[in-house]
This record gives sequence, C-alpha cells and structure tokens, in this order.
Amino acid sequence: MAQLWGGRFTRETDQMVYRFNASIEFDKRLYRRDIEGSTAHVKMLGKQGILTEQETEAIVEGLAKILADVEAGRLAITSEYEDIHSFVEANLIERLGDTGKKLHTGRSRNDQVALDMRLYCREKVVLVDALLKKLLQTILTIMEAHTETIMPGFTHLQKAQPVTLAHHMGAYFEMFKRDRQRMSDIYERMNYCPLGSGALAGTTYPLDRDYTAELLGFYGPTLNSMDGVSDRDYLIEMLSAFSTIMMHLSRFSEEIIIWNSNEYQFVEIDDAFSTGSSIMPQKKNPDIAELVRGKTGRVYGALMSLLTTMKGIPLAYNKDMQEDKELAFDAMDTVENCIELFEGMLATITFRKERMRASASLGFTNATDAADYLVNHGVPFRDAHGIVGRLVLYCIEKGIAIDEMSLAELKEISPVFEEDLYEAVSMETCVNKRLTVGAPGKEAMEQAIAAEREYLRQHPGIV
Ligand code: ARG
Repeated sequence: MAQLWGGRFTRETDQMVYRFNASIEFDKRLYRRDIEGSTAHVKMLGKQGILTEQETEAIVEGLAKILADVEAGRLAITSEYEDIHSFVEANLIERLGDTGKKLHTGRSRNDQVALDMRLYCREKVVLVDALLKKLLQTILTIMEAHTETIMPGFTHLQKAQPVTLAHHMGAYFEMFKRDRQRMSDIYERMNYCPLGSGALAGTTYPLDRDYTAELLGFYGPTLNSMDGVSDRDYLIEMLSAFSTIMMHLSRFSEEIIIWNSNEYQFVEIDDAFSTGSSIMPQKKNPDIAELVRGKTGRVYGALMSLLTTMKGIPLAYNKDMQEDKELAFDAMDTVENCIELFEGMLATITFRKERMRASASLGFTNATDAADYLVNHGVPFRDAHGIVGRLVLYCIEKGIAIDEMSLAELKEISPVFEEDLYEAVSMETCVNKRLTVGAPGKEAMEQAIAAEREYLRQHPGIV
C-alpha cells in the first residue's frame, strides 16, 4: 500500500480498512484530468515564486512523462496506490526525488478531487451535447423525407388523428433539443475552478487562483473555499439531465418496440441492430431498444444515489463524497452508449409507409374531421359528435372505413353529408388542413423543419 499520509500513525492500516477506503479502482479514469490539474497548479506556483523556475519545469516535465507513459501503456495504474492522486504524486517523487515532493504545496486532495471531477464532467457534458447533436441530425433527415408519410397519431395508445412521420419525429427533435440546452446550462454554471480552495479554508500561500482557472479553461475561480471542495451540484444537475435524456430515449425505444412488433409492422429494425433467439428461428428481436429502455433505471439510480449521499453531509469535505464517482461514471458510460447505439439503430431503420397509412385509414383517425364537416354545414358540434359516433359504430359492424361508405349509407345517418365529404375526410386533407404552428400539415411542418435546421446551424456545439 502506498499512501500520502502516515506521519502521525504508529500502526499500519488494517488491510480491510485500506481496501474499503481506497478509490483507485474507479478513480483511475481521472488520471488525465489529475495530471492536467497538477500541471496548472505547478505552473501557477512557479509564476508566484512559490517554486523556483527549475522546480516548476522539472515537475511539469515529469507530469507530462507520467501522462505519456500511462497513455502508451508503459505505466500501469495499479491498486497498490490509495487513489489516483497518490499514484501520480508517488510516481513523480520516484522520478524527481525531493522536487516531486513539492507538487502538493498549497493544495489538498479535497480541492484536487473537486477539480478532477469537474474537469471530467465538463468534458462529458460537451461530449453528450455532441452525441445529441448527431442524433438530432438523424431525426431531422427522417423528418425531411417524411412530411407526406401518413400514420396514426395516438392517445391512450388508441388511434386518434392522422399525423405524419415527420411530425411524430419532430416531437423527439424538440425533446433532444431541450436536452442539449440543459447541457449548455450546466456547462455555464459548472465552469468555475475549485482549485485553491485547499482542504476547506484556502491556503496561506499567495496562490493566483485566477491564473489557475484561466490555464484550465474555466471562467474563473469558485468564490467560497468551503463550497469549492464540497459542491457536487453540477454532478447532480448532470445526472438529472442525463436521466431526462434516458427518459426520452426510453420512450422512443418503447415506440420502436411497438412499431417493430408483428402486429404493427410500422418499422423494421435493421439486421445489424437486431438479435435472434436461441430457440425460435423466426425471431428478430429489438434488443437494442429494450436495453436502452432497461438501462434508464441505472441512470436514475445514480441520480437518486448521489442526492441521497449529499443530503446529510455537513460542510465541508467528508469521505462520503468519494461515493460521487462509481455510479456517476457508470451513468456517463451508459448515456454515451445509449445515445450512440440508438442513433445507429434509428439511422438504419426501415419505415413501412404503406402499413402506417393503412393503419391510419382503418382506425377512424378522420372521425374528428367528419364531425368538423358537419359543423361547417351548420350542425352544432355536440350533435355532430353523436352522428359521427353512430357512423363509426356502423362502420365497425361492417368492417369498413368512413370513406368506404356509399353516399346513400351516409345520408341515412345524416342528410347533411354530400359528395364532398370524401374529400374532407381523406387522410391527406385531415393532415394538411392542420396548419397551426407546430401542427402536422405539410406547410406547417416544412416551416418547423426549416426552424430546426436553423437551430442546428446556430448551435454547433458547446465549445
Ligand atoms: N478519493 C477521495 C475522493 O474521491 C479523494 C479526496 C480525499 N480527501 C480526503 N480528505 N481523504 O473524494
């Protein structure tokens, strides 16, 4: 065991305690940010004259070599160290001797780990934003191709009114667009540097915190050192936004699973994104969509876990906070994977337009429009509702659609119906007359598509 402390101890740490306390197994993934943070810290110490120029140069170079060795696989991060901070510092001391021992001047692991986590999360927020952008582009491509692809819109999972595939996809575009906006918001709030907060009360060394913040690309330093070391709000916000992304992906997955079912057959998931059954040869299963739906739970779990961990922690740093990592890392990996895989599945899916259209036609999705027809011919809406209800009942008994009734049959139910009813309740009319902003009518949809395209153009990414 290699640890950074021990002077005031007379007995060795119990092995079980050491293992319970150690975090190297999961915080090793912070190595790059840890080295990046240390490098900035040392440069600042040099600029302030706290370290000499030679010491500064030696440490900066030593850190760069450790980074290169780890990345090239020449130096393994092993569990003989307590955490990633000890690993880097011990390695530096091994290489530089006494000079290496000066790295930790004016710093605590508390502000160090607070910085590492922020750097790591900042990168993830930028990455997830980019992945969402790619997904949005794929959705937009589908929207552009399907402004005339009629399908049933549902409420209560019952056919309601006809929409288009472009319109249905457009709903998800809006959701993932908001998810991107959340990434930007979080970035704005989190982008302040906690380094220099010390253990909790700053330090007596004349640190230039503005300089360190600038070197690391932050807007500036955090303004309270106790908050600096113990704030994990940004991580909670991130997990919360990630949970919302997963909720959106999960709803979308659920629809794809339904659409891909034998009964619906609205879509066919590409072979490359489907899996088979070990016993039933006919099966082609939507496992990717199911897994995305299923993995939503673990991201929610990470959020609940961290909220619960943080709720009882008095200021400032307490070891509980080490629990901010494992589940959060798992959630980050999960979200990245899910967006990427979902995007791949969506980009290769086949939409079966004729099935969608037939489903819309046979589902009385034009019943509202038949009622509106009567209203336009002077029938009060409540009466029209009743008349069309009887119409639908008649059709169900005969197994036909409204526009498959003869004019004579129609007139028997209401004399108000004329030949132009057929035109009024055609799927095309039902969709294309809906031209309010945000509605599925082709012209309205084309305006929405143009606006979304412009949004993508104006928001290329966070940095
Ligand atoms: N592994 C610790 C963590 O993740 C690093 C900070 C340790 N600080 C301390 N005072 N023991 O929180």
